[in-house]
Amino acid sequence: MLVGDHSYQTVWMEDHTVKMIDQNALPFSFQIHECPSYWDTCMAITDMTVRGAGAIGAAAAFAMAQAFLEAPETDREVFLEDAREEIEGTRLTARNLFYAVERVYEAGQLSAENAKTEAQRIALQDTEDTRAIGRYGNKLIKNNARILTHCNAGWLAFVDYGTALSPVYTAKKEGKEIFVYVDETRPRGQGARLTAWELMQEGVPFTIIPDNAAASLMQQGKIDLVIVGADRIAKNGDTANKIGTLGRAILANTFGIPFYIAAPTSTIDAACKSGKEIIIEERNQDEVLYQDGIDANGNKVKVMVCAPGSTAYNPAFDVTPAKYITGIITEKGIIKAHHQSISSLLKSIEDERA
Ligand code: MRU
Repeated sequence: MLVGDHSYQTVWMEDHTVKMIDQNALPFSFQIHECPSYWDTCMAITDMTVRGAGAIGAAAAFAMAQAFLEAPETDREVFLEDAREEIEGTRLTARNLFYAVERVYEAGQLSAENAKTEAQRIALQDTEDTRAIGRYGNKLIKNNARILTHCNAGWLAFVDYGTALSPVYTAKKEGKEIFVYVDETRPRGQGARLTAWELMQEGVPFTIIPDNAAASLMQQGKIDLVIVGADRIAKNGDTANKIGTLGRAILANTFGIPFYIAAPTSTIDAACKSGKEIIIEERNQDEVLYQDGIDANGNKVKVMVCAPGSTAYNPAFDVTPAKYITGIITEKGIIKAHHQSISSLLKSIEDERA
């Protein structure tokens, strides 16, 4: 994606170093963060320098490849198993992270170079999948559509293109008039900070709304379509996504508005029968109690936004039951969010590979 006149991916690997757009610095400054070791890449995933299901999948793949490149001759196996455990412990809910680590770990059994090649392949696949999601999702977007999205499932959340925003970008390129309502997405503000910044880069008209404004907008008939991303999709279609997604889904259902999940098939967890089995990551309470920003002089500031001495509960994701989901936009097409459609899609992918 273009930032100014330069084409970027969200995360990539050069030699032994993993490089990424620093998403904690955005939208106030654009910086590239470098991770020379697998441990540095783990830290970048944990502190959300890189975030979003596909981007952390690619970052984790690169981290696993770095671990193979760093592994000593003696106790190599133990080093690699520990590294894998550390990488998998960085973020718990997003399926892509585990899927990617598994693939690179297997590939690395042949050689460290093979691990690196596999990680690059995962990043490339992420790019191709999300571009295809844009093509399929675009078919749902009518001229003059007003779309609501939650969190950031744009190109910053993947290696490129994004999921929920990829159809928006395709629609824009096709010359459709569109407007995006962006949920601010407390507590970390991925909508207000990242989605808003991305849409601005792409010249897509948008406005940020407070998280609790969606019901009123829907009631007034101001939203035609909801598209959000996914962090993990269970075999029955239940979907984990950024906290607050469930509320949007129930509202959309109440007001008769189509509610779509956009995600590559790598986000589907075939071993997970229903949303009840999805582990929800709980994050530090300071994300709720404080907000980061800049002051009038452009200096970084952190301010308390609660009664001093308060505590906070901070679950990062919720699970939307399949019954509220109109469809899932994947790289293979749009499918129903139920067991049968998901199983036959996964089966056709397996058959293709065989
Ligand atoms: O905690 P984050 O920012 O890594 O959350 C992931 C997300 O960006 C969202 O849940 C998103 O909608 C799905 S990931 C493309």
